[in-house]
Amino acid sequence: MSDPVSVEVDGRVAIVTIANPPVNAASQAVRAGLMEAFATTETNEAVQSVVLICDGRTFVAGADIKEFGKPPVAPDLPDVVRTIEQASKPWIAAIHGTALGGGLEIALGCRFRVADASAKMGLPEVNLGIIPGAGGTVRLPRVVSAETALDMVTSGKPIGAARALDVGLVDAVSEGDLRTFAIQFAASKENEPMPDSLSQRSVNPVADDAAWQGMTDKIRKRARGQHSPAAAVDAIETALKLPFDEALAAERALFKRLKDDPQSKALRHIFFAERSVSRIPEAKGVAPRDFERIGIIGGGTMGSGIATACLLSNLSVIMIERDQSALEIGLARVRDSLTAGVKRGLMTQQECEHRFAMLSGATEYAALSEADLVVEAVFEDMAVKHDVFKRLDTATKPDAILASNTSYLDVNEIASVVRDPSRVIGLHFFSPAHIMKLLELIVTKDAAPDVLATGLAFGKRLRKITVPAGVCDGFIGNRVMSAYRRAGEYMIEDGAMPWDVDEAMRDFGFPMGLFEVQDLAGLDIAWAMRKRQAVTRDPNERYVDIADQICERGHFGRKTGRGWYRYEDGTREPDPEVAALILESSQRQGITRRDFSADEIIQTLLEAMTAQGAQVVEEGIAASPEAVDVVMVNGYGFPRWLGGPMALREARALG
Ligand code: 3HC
Ligand code: NAI
Repeated sequence: MSDPVSVEVDGRVAIVTIANPPVNAASQAVRAGLMEAFATTETNEAVQSVVLICDGRTFVAGADIKEFGKPPVAPDLPDVVRTIEQASKPWIAAIHGTALGGGLEIALGCRFRVADASAKMGLPEVNLGIIPGAGGTVRLPRVVSAETALDMVTSGKPIGAARALDVGLVDAVSEGDLRTFAIQFAASKENEPMPDSLSQRSVNPVADDAAWQGMTDKIRKRARGQHSPAAAVDAIETALKLPFDEALAAERALFKRLKDDPQSKALRHIFFAERSVSRIPEAKGVAPRDFERIGIIGGGTMGSGIATACLLSNLSVIMIERDQSALEIGLARVRDSLTAGVKRGLMTQQECEHRFAMLSGATEYAALSEADLVVEAVFEDMAVKHDVFKRLDTATKPDAILASNTSYLDVNEIASVVRDPSRVIGLHFFSPAHIMKLLELIVTKDAAPDVLATGLAFGKRLRKITVPAGVCDGFIGNRVMSAYRRAGEYMIEDGAMPWDVDEAMRDFGFPMGLFEVQDLAGLDIAWAMRKRQAVTRDPNERYVDIADQICERGHFGRKTGRGWYRYEDGTREPDPEVAALILESSQRQGITRRDFSADEIIQTLLEAMTAQGAQVVEEGIAASPEAVDVVMVNGYGFPRWLGGPMALREARALG
């Protein structure tokens, strides 16, 4: 392998280039190369300044996560940063792509930072269950305000170049060629005294103690059971109090402790799993079909969300609805979602208008004659789906891809009404479809390899984590969810109440409990599925009909004001009528109700999840336990820092 760090001298400026694809991670070879580059540039008397730049798509995107868990090999990153910082000539970090984690820490060791206009900078370590370990928490509040440092380190969210300039993180932003700009910048500083390194500067103090306390309380609360955000607060507060060297040592000690915490292992597991699951052997190396014009059938909750997701990825969309009034409602839903993006500062009004202009609507399927890919999101009913796919069969180009967003139905059966079923797949989005990262790609039995490759490419274009899944009732996620929902229902008939189950789940780390989630999603879709399954259900299998009884009353959750809970004026309360139904059901079944501790509730749900997860893998519905983990973490709120149910089970089994 060629040397990942090279030095080139251009007059009085040395250019140190890191080339370690794909993301220039600060591996041992890169660290050692930087030490050598330091020695070369220090001893070359002609060199007055050093530009540190990266080849490829990005500046250093962090420490090499693959090295975590292995014995460390010198030089370590803090030493490298410290060495660069102590250079006798100024180092200028020239940042493009993403300077993340250890990458930003290296840049903080440089006397100056310049960035490409599209560059992003951040300290995302918290997402890996750690904190910055090479001086990030100590140097950052010496260059930006304490509040900005706190936000960057605890949220892990990167900031763009313009904001970085604003807050003082970079000294200049380049519009043109970054290398040329950085060399000119270096030359312009030649006759100026070298500025103090960050280690020589004092921290920027907290502006308002009460506001600070409010911010840190909120961060600790939002972390639920995750350790790293609170540790990040501690590290920043230590950096604000202690002298530079002591703060650096404290940061390193905390970093090392967190690196060995099972939460960090779990978060690394899910990081790599998310990047490895989007693969389908039949589609390997196969070129996807072109897709620019997307058809969406149905403008309800899902259709409008999927349309929004497409528009946000610059794809043009034609929405088909049953009649003009339903169409107008569907189009208005999309506009509302886009406008919400403007309100949240995610896009300008002009961008919103531009995206909305890429949307059109029709009530006739003939409008789809030019569509490259169509996603159906109509009612969850096989007869309705068949009707839609028959129309799509004749209305679309023969090579257009036809996808169903069904939650549970057999996509092979849906495909059977199309003359060429090789162009049919499932694309199962999660609600709200323009926000949720997960997408299940349902691999039908006849799907052509390039159709599958296009499904993967479409998911990537929408910036989703695409998990291939086989055809079965509920695919991966809803099938596992049905199993633990069933376990939850057994528990409520045996003695717990829905609100007890929900509270235990929230305490475990789920953002919401099982029953509140059902109320939010609407109880009707799962009810329709249960009615469909009733004919084939094993009569000896235990069946709890409390949810059916709630639905029979027309209570479908939040949207009807009642479900498992009662909703009034924005509040959620246990519903005494539901409690009575539960007691009655236990009595009818001759069950003596007993207490369930929060621990027992969680254990029971976890066992149901992992048993079904293992089954789903065994049947080949999911390619691996990692796929189950990725689905449960990204679609069902399983706490990310526990790595997913399958990883948690394995970690517990190992002790
Ligand atoms: N170490 C090792 N491998 C990494 C890596 C890292 N820090 N970051 C990304 N990779 C790998 C990915 O696993 C993937 O490998 P694959 O092709 O074999 O699947 C490949 O690089 C490309 O990654 P993505 O698919 O994620 O590419 P994108 O272009 O979508 O995203 C990115 C690029 C924004 C850099 C994204 O990869 C990312 O967020 N990486 C993690 C950044 C991070 O967390 N940095 C902090 C590390 S911890 C640290 O620095 C500690 C320090 O404080 C001491
Ligand atoms: P919805 O009831 O909100 O919307 C369905 C829309 O389809 C309605 O606007 C209706 O007018 C339209 N429609 C019905 N028949 C049509 C036809 N023949 N041609 C054109 N439009 C037609 O339903 P929702 O929730 O959007 O669900 C749609 C599909 O997505 C279902 O298959 C559902 O199982 C699935 N799904 C739902 C999720 C959810 O959380 N709501 C999540 C993932 C999948």
